[in-house]
Amino acid sequence: MLYDFRSFVNPGHYAFGKGNLKHLGELIDRRKNKTNDWTVFMIDHFFQDKKETLDRLPIGEKDLVFFIDTKDEPKTTLVNKYRDQILAHQSTLPAVVIGMGGGTTMDYAKATGLMVTNEGDSKDYQGLDKIKNEGIYTIVIPTVSGTGAEVSMTAVLSGPEKKLGIKCDYTIPNEVLFDPELLSTVTDEDRFFTGMDNYIHNVESLNGTWITSMGKAFAEKSNEICVDVFMNKYPDRLEADEKMMVASIMGGNSITYAQVGVCHALSYGLAVVLETHHGVANCIAFNQLEQYYPEGYKQFKEMQAFQGVDIPKGITAGCSDEDLDRMVDVAWANEHMWNNAFGPEWEKHISKAELKELYKKM
Ligand SMILES: [Fe+2]
Repeated sequence: MLYDFRSFVNPGHYAFGKGNLKHLGELIDRRKNKTNDWTVFMIDHFFQDKKETLDRLPIGEKDLVFFIDTKDEPKTTLVNKYRDQILAHQSTLPAVVIGMGGGTTMDYAKATGLMVTNEGDSKDYQGLDKIKNEGIYTIVIPTVSGTGAEVSMTAVLSGPEKKLGIKCDYTIPNEVLFDPELLSTVTDEDRFFTGMDNYIHNVESLNGTWITSMGKAFAEKSNEICVDVFMNKYPDRLEADEKMMVASIMGGNSITYAQVGVCHALSYGLAVVLETHHGVANCIAFNQLEQYYPEGYKQFKEMQAFQGVDIPKGITAGCSDEDLDRMVDVAWANEHMWNNAFGPEWEKHISKAELKELYKKM
């Protein structure tokens, strides 16, 4: 079964290369005009005390800087708050919104840039094609690889009831600045978890019913790079980081042209109820999915063993029956993911009771 017709959109501009951060000022200046002459910087809070990196950013007196707490997944309530602060900051709208960080920070920048020009509560825009107006010009700068947020049409947000992306043509970042040197501070563990997010995007695309030749080509190449990076020792980590930046772009495109599946649906339940970070939640869920993705599971376990990273276990042990049911409901609501995983009659292949058993094992 193929999804409805859609003409996909990619970021308008890419700049890829070591040391590219020094060109950020040029990219921003191109977008300024007499009226809209200031910038919003949304930066992962990890960099808050990294003076060396902050000093390289072209932050001017009129600009507004937010340090994004990335411990939790992006929330609709915070997007609304950032938007209100932006609207109160100057009498004009900003020319550019910068999102520098991992998937959480980039998704905040994408969603906030849209909410500046779309009235109301961001929770009312969760879903497909609900945004009315183009947002503020958004430049994202990934500092960790794997989420694919830098090229995806979705800004994934947790609202009061659901974890669901704002997804439309306008959600795509206008421009991406890739600088592999910015990945040097990522810990080996975080690098593994976000790298596995990428790996799982590809496994779910390749094993889904919505796979297309485009999605397949991106997913296969992306996972070739991913396995190379995580199954070999790279004396020069920068070389591996640069490769993973490319794998993340391709993995993001694999789900644009196909869709995620069982693991992402389950990980959303963990995110909403336990606030488990996306990459970690995916690994915890994928660790229980051998029956659905046997080949991917085998390779995942090999990479995990080679990297010597532990996947958390027992995180649902203290959950009440209501908590587990809520997780199941969040996962179940991602109909498009189940449809991709099993086809239009997906409810014949999986039940809420099975999901609950899977959650209990996590
Ligand atoms: Fe993901």
